[in-house]
Amino acid sequence: MSELRSAQWYAGSDRNAYLHRAWMRRGLPEDAFDGTKPHIAIANTASDLTPCNAHLNEVSEYVQKGIWEAGGIPLNLPVLSLGETQVKPTAMLWRNMAAMAIEEMLRANPIDGVVLLGGCDKTIPALLMAAASVNLPAIVVPGGPMLTGTFRGEALGCGTDVWRLSEEVRSGQLSNEQFIKSESSMIRSKGHCNTMGTASTMAVVAEALGMTIPGFAGTPAADARLLALSHQTGRQIVEMISADRRPSQIMVKESFLNAIIAVAAVGGSTNSVVHLLAIAGRLGVDLTLEDFDRVGRDIPLLANLQPAGKFLMEDLFRAGGLLALLSQISERFFSTPITVTGKPLTDYFAGNDVFDTAVIRSPGQPLMEGAGIAVLRGNLAPNGAIIKPSAATPALLTHRGPALVFDSIEDLHNRIDDLELDVTPDTVLVLRGCGPKGYPGMPEVGNMPLPKKILEQGIRDMVRISDGRMSGTAYGTIILHVSPESAAGGPLALVRTGDIIALDVPNRTLNIEISDAELALRTPNNATTSAYAKPVRGWSKLYVDHVQGADTGADLDFLVGSSGDAVNRESH
Ligand code: FES
Repeated sequence: MSELRSAQWYAGSDRNAYLHRAWMRRGLPEDAFDGTKPHIAIANTASDLTPCNAHLNEVSEYVQKGIWEAGGIPLNLPVLSLGETQVKPTAMLWRNMAAMAIEEMLRANPIDGVVLLGGCDKTIPALLMAAASVNLPAIVVPGGPMLTGTFRGEALGCGTDVWRLSEEVRSGQLSNEQFIKSESSMIRSKGHCNTMGTASTMAVVAEALGMTIPGFAGTPAADARLLALSHQTGRQIVEMISADRRPSQIMVKESFLNAIIAVAAVGGSTNSVVHLLAIAGRLGVDLTLEDFDRVGRDIPLLANLQPAGKFLMEDLFRAGGLLALLSQISERFFSTPITVTGKPLTDYFAGNDVFDTAVIRSPGQPLMEGAGIAVLRGNLAPNGAIIKPSAATPALLTHRGPALVFDSIEDLHNRIDDLELDVTPDTVLVLRGCGPKGYPGMPEVGNMPLPKKILEQGIRDMVRISDGRMSGTAYGTIILHVSPESAAGGPLALVRTGDIIALDVPNRTLNIEISDAELALRTPNNATTSAYAKPVRGWSKLYVDHVQGADTGADLDFLVGSSGDAVNRESH
């Protein structure tokens, strides 16, 4: 092993080395500072206000055991955490702040490598973005999904069933009392959402990128095997430091393509698009929206999991797990990129059997053909927009209808239940002012509720378009991430109620049926830049001034790229 980075703090007999060592001793053995033992941070997103990650302190203990056992020094590093269901206006506003803070603390501290403990939606993306920009040896521990909760004898999917049950209340099929009763049944155990929402998707992404021990993603949080794999991860990071195996060697272009294939096969969240683009941007990997469409286009949907299907993450684990699923289409994956172990992901496919073909479908009987996220372009989205066909109504994937425009989420909430609303099942709901700059933070409001008038007709889906995101647990014919966003001068700001919108997913187009000349005469609706979108100080101001479009990952312009692990000048 070459000289450890931490030796730049601890080696020598001068005053500064004395300072660095003395304050860190506190029970560490004498040889902790002799330059033979790597110092390893455990970047821990545990927080009581990130309930999906609250168990990660226990997980950290098992990682620490593995690190000690392999000859390293584990160091718990609490890092900024984001509770998806708790923070307002949206956790996405702080993904880049978390990534920046984690990046700076990894670089500033005397560490040789890092174990990344994440779970809830934004935590794994922020950790991976930070690790990519520092490029010290790094490995992910996905915190795992919660166990299946049941209500009146039926499984409840986190998020997905909240959307479904709340629509049933609004349409009069379910009493509000029953709805509230279901609340205590949904969150049954420690762990993150148990649907194939964003947290589960990002665990899949981390594994497909090569950044977890293969076979880890999808292990339930309450399963003892999660602790065993955490222990193993502790050993693995010590080996990675010895081998000098870094994120830039693992997360290469083909690893990102593998992640896109995996997301398509599991019916993963549309949020993975902005996160993968942002991580790639940190590494200088040339990943584009077109890669998602090209690579995911003919991948079959094999996971029968909510929101695209029926089952939940515990069922996927019982049915054989992620590797069993991915091995069904092993020939689709690139075998050149290595994982944290130094071997390709494809080396781990053999010997993983499927035990329940209702949960893990075969390529011959997929839940859907061509399940990858589709990228649309046209005069409404010159820089692109996305849709998840596996969560959409097939009959609506080609559609033409009049727009009904909402200028903000408040405008939508104020009018959506108005029985006088001029709306039919063919209407296209348009919501703007919800992009990275416009909200700000690009919230998950794209899965806007259907008008009460439509719900009462028994209709459960309509074409919806916005420059926001949607929860990975949501479903419907929903076009998201329209770029440029309305607040950045995108044509979404020019749409008027009554304009005809034409959607053609098979041909990947999204247009307003208005000539370029007429569009050019229109002035953008200023209501799309609300007072919220003009912060005068703090993180929100920095964010709005520097955030880039969703089509490139919504990172801050000055955070794209890497500064490596260079050690800064002395503190004293
Ligand atoms: Fe944390 Fe869904 S709210 S993963």
